[in-house]
Amino acid sequence: MEPIYDQYNRKHDYLRLSITDRCNLRCVYCMPKEGLPFFPDNRVLSQDEIVQLVKNFTEMGINKVRITGGEPLLRTDVVEIIQRIREIPEVKDISITTNGLFLAKKAAALKQAGLDRLNISLDTFKPDVYKEITRGGNIQQVLDGIATAAELGFKKIKLNVVLIKGQNDDEILDFIRYTKDHDVNVRFIEFMPIGNAEADWKQEFVPLDNVFDLCHQAGLAYQPIELAGNGPSDNYQIEGFKGSFGLIHPISARFCENCNRLRITADGYIKACLYWNEEINVRKVISDPVKFRQTIQRALDNKPLNHEMALAQPERIIDKAPTWRHMSQI
Ligand code: GTP
Ligand code: 5AD
Ligand code: SF4
Repeated sequence: MEPIYDQYNRKHDYLRLSITDRCNLRCVYCMPKEGLPFFPDNRVLSQDEIVQLVKNFTEMGINKVRITGGEPLLRTDVVEIIQRIREIPEVKDISITTNGLFLAKKAAALKQAGLDRLNISLDTFKPDVYKEITRGGNIQQVLDGIATAAELGFKKIKLNVVLIKGQNDDEILDFIRYTKDHDVNVRFIEFMPIGNAEADWKQEFVPLDNVFDLCHQAGLAYQPIELAGNGPSDNYQIEGFKGSFGLIHPISARFCENCNRLRITADGYIKACLYWNEEINVRKVISDPVKFRQTIQRALDNKPLNHEMALAQPERIIDKAPTWRHMSQI
């Protein structure tokens, strides 16, 4: 096993693997209102291809795998996929990012299959706002999913909260207070301009600095904390609270220097950076680990240092992500 590095000497040991482009929601920051045509089944990696692909990656030192979508729980063989990845000894950490709608139903099987961690998208506590943001979702299903997962003993559950001006930015303190009795890590995420979000994002973007101001005003003292894992968030805890909160600021403070991620799309392309248009098909070389490694290395040799979107340098803002893919397709 020889680790793989990019041209900036960043070691890459974390794979984000999309197993479907389908989703049962159409969140406003992720998909267009009218939805997207989904890939036909034969365009999506098969279970065997996925397992072989992960094995190839472990040969280059990848030991963390995150399963994403679209909505990964829509895939009928998701439990089997997790089970088979669990059987690969080099994989130390398997996680999933889900909208949580099917979690109450599937959490037990996922746990049994060997899933370590869960990140769940929940942008609001208000049923009507949830319906608006997700374009039709029923929040109760997600809340039930979170409760089921916690009861089953899933540790380190993370809630992803994308902040949207005028829609949920009045709930920041509600989310922080939620961590008083819930042992979860609530992460506030800056809205990123990608796919359909390009046109609106400047109006809807909420910089994360005001999270601290709100804490001060509410008399909530926070401490920075270290959380295990390789996430992009800076984490804090209010004294005496069970859970914690984190800030993910891809825009106002880039975290790219430490990027250790490789992304594979559901149709089998490597996307070495979220904001990167260049994609290389790896599906063709899954059965040949040597060519596979060469292809991944080629992608990493071109991986940019960062995504050039810092608001700190307004003259350099690109408000159009250079990719045809919508977020749900990454
Ligand atoms: P862990 O820390 O391992 O739990 O995973 P994660 O936080 O990376 O995974 P998740 O799927 O929950 O992603 C949460 C958010 O992180 C996304 O909405 C993005 O905003 C951000 N993010 C994750 N990876 C990247 C990345 O490579 N580039 C950028 N720009 N944003 C990322
Ligand atoms: N900006 C920031 N986060 C986004 N997500 C989806 N689209 C965007 C966007 N435009 C988040 C979802 C999910 C995570 C994987 O990505 O909330 O939790
Ligand atoms: Fe689906 Fe997640 Fe995109 Fe929402 S953010 S539409 S739940 S893929």
